[in-house]
Amino acid sequence: MARIFSGIQPTGIPTLGNYLGAIRNWVTLQAEHECIFCLVDLHAITQFQDPATLARQTREQAAVLLACGIDPAGHIFFNQSAVSAHARLAWIFNCVARLGWLNRMTQFKDKAGKDREAQSAGLYVYPNLMAADILAYHATQVPVGDDQRQHVELTNDIAQKFNHDYGVDFFPEVAALIPPTAARVMSLRDGTKKMSKSDPSDQSRINLTDDADQIALKIRRAKTDPKPLPADPAGLEGRAEARNLIDIYTALSGETRQGVLDRFGGGGFGPFKEALAAVLVEHLAPIAAETQRLLRDETAIDAVLRDGAGRAGAVAEPIVREAERLVGFLR
Ligand code: TYM
Repeated sequence: MARIFSGIQPTGIPTLGNYLGAIRNWVTLQAEHECIFCLVDLHAITQFQDPATLARQTREQAAVLLACGIDPAGHIFFNQSAVSAHARLAWIFNCVARLGWLNRMTQFKDKAGKDREAQSAGLYVYPNLMAADILAYHATQVPVGDDQRQHVELTNDIAQKFNHDYGVDFFPEVAALIPPTAARVMSLRDGTKKMSKSDPSDQSRINLTDDADQIALKIRRAKTDPKPLPADPAGLEGRAEARNLIDIYTALSGETRQGVLDRFGGGGFGPFKEALAAVLVEHLAPIAAETQRLLRDETAIDAVLRDGAGRAGAVAEPIVREAERLVGFLR
């Protein structure tokens, strides 16, 4: 039984991208594996967060994940800052990872944009903290969307260099588990940009708490091109927005692209968009309703996270203490 670790930043309501790329996988993996899921608030502050908003969003995000089916009793569910082992191991990894490795990280380049000099040092070393999250538990499987692939590869580079430098075989190799479809859900406004919970435009994404009217409106307004839908998947090449909508549909309905195009190919986007909105509402309405129910008792949510943090710490503490001993820290 592999140990699974994954995380999500509490910087907004989880989106359909988070759901199809990661959360849905987390829920199913629980049936067969020991899972540890984390709200990564240390990662969130690599870009400034208003304190009251961060606290509220951490709780809201916990509610959404519980509503999606994360089982906090059978598995471990907590917020990162509550377990100090993450930050301690991350510091060691800051001293193991090379600047050249971090300079290759595409997500830093995307997030920093042109203004590199003005970014926090935390944003730059963010992937080292992510490696610490995973390796503090000796987890070996990491269910993520496609955008995290490079960070998981870096985790292996860090583990190997640590093992090599200290002459041990201590940190295991880890594998990214990336879904076959919808591993990179794109913005509804721009098919070249990833759907993101922190995009300034709410119209660019479906939030897991959107109601049926919001979903229908966003899908109706979703950017498309003027051509009809193609009869076969090859016709989606070069049509990023059309492909994105078809892929969302296939990921939710379990059909193939060809199956969907057999029904909607040759026609305009109108009827397809209506069907897409319906399938989204069918999947997301129960999550939104359960989230609202859970948020009526904030104390209960905080207690779930506190309990998870206690159990996470019990797993991570001996592993990180051993890493500290290997490095030569006196106790
Ligand atoms: P975050 O918060 O950006 O996203 C959480 C998860 O959702 C996936 N995802 C997507 N998948 C498909 N399409 C999209 N448009 C989309 N947007 C996001 C992400 O790939 C991710 O799996 N660095 C991570 C959090 C993290 C982590 C970790 C993950 C911190 N420590 C350790 C795994 C293991 C992040 O910012 O995810």
